[in-house]
Amino acid sequence: MTYRNDPYDPKQVALLDQSSLDDAVAQAEKAFADATDVDALTAVKHQHLGDRAAVSLARREIGALPPRAKSDAGKRVNEARARIQSAFEARLVDLEADRARKALVEESVDVTLPWDRHPRGARHPLTTLMDRIGDLFVGMGYEIAEGPELELEWANFDALNIAPDHPARTMMDTFYVASARAGTGGSGLVLRTHTSPVQARTMLTRKPPIYVVCPGRVYRTDELDATHTPVFHQVEGLVVDKGITMAHLKGTLDHFARAMFGPEAATRLRPSYFPFTEPSAELDLWFPQARGGARWIEWGGCGMVNPRVLRSCGVDPDLYSGFAFGMGIERTLMFRHGVTDMRDMVEGDVRFTRAFGMEV
Ligand code: DAH
Repeated sequence: MTYRNDPYDPKQVALLDQSSLDDAVAQAEKAFADATDVDALTAVKHQHLGDRAAVSLARREIGALPPRAKSDAGKRVNEARARIQSAFEARLVDLEADRARKALVEESVDVTLPWDRHPRGARHPLTTLMDRIGDLFVGMGYEIAEGPELELEWANFDALNIAPDHPARTMMDTFYVASARAGTGGSGLVLRTHTSPVQARTMLTRKPPIYVVCPGRVYRTDELDATHTPVFHQVEGLVVDKGITMAHLKGTLDHFARAMFGPEAATRLRPSYFPFTEPSAELDLWFPQARGGARWIEWGGCGMVNPRVLRSCGVDPDLYSGFAFGMGIERTLMFRHGVTDMRDMVEGDVRFTRAFGMEV
């Protein structure tokens, strides 16, 4: 079957030779095998399966054959065409699989790459720990109390039964604040050396029952090293109510310890001396996760509020009793998170703070 304007010469019966057909199949198979991707394969498809492909031209010659030869020739042409078709399909399946495999590798997204070029800030682990401690006590019905960091010498010392000649005044390495006017003596102000003056301020401004915690910044004239910093943080606890005993203190501290350090943590009180408590105790913490095994570590100080302190702050010691405790936040953070150098907490390197999570 030929068409007008078709330049094809219908007398090329040699195309129907089996060797020509085999040749056409071999050439097609080679061309398909040489195609290295789906686009290249589709580009050569027409050449071997299109209307001008050898097998298509051969098919056109069948009509010119004597009737008896037609069926044999038709079968062979169809068979050759089918072989080319299946070679094409097999190669197509391979190349498509290849393409999918490459896409998986080349187009995959590395989810570990940094994505946030403007990281947001987060609160310092000391701040979040103070908040957590505050929350714990608020959950028990306490309130948060605050006081100034530039404190009256009276509140920092006198009100707490630390008289001017008391050794505790010199034991706490205090930053005294000079008076602005020359020759007028001291200013009567210090950078508070502990959070205990907030006890005095609280008793002067609230009526018992008093249940407060006071987290805050304190100052001492220490050099910065692995275990000291001139600016650090404490949390103070104060309870003043009727019938408060040391058992209430012990139960509260045990609960605090377990909330901070896990269910196996416990506290121990060792007799000690603080001018503002009587009796006074050193507070030790049984720390199950301590490096090198569980052991007792010093955590803070505590005791029953000294009646002299109650009296100087306007609370009647015959009606009320109270307990107080105080501990360092830095030390608490160090135990809780295995921090060994205090300088890491003050130098502001985000590689340190980031390890605590980015809590805002
Ligand atoms: N203020 C003390 C200090 O800085 C700690 C302290 C001890 C606080 C006993 C208290 C307490 O409330 O009762 O070393």
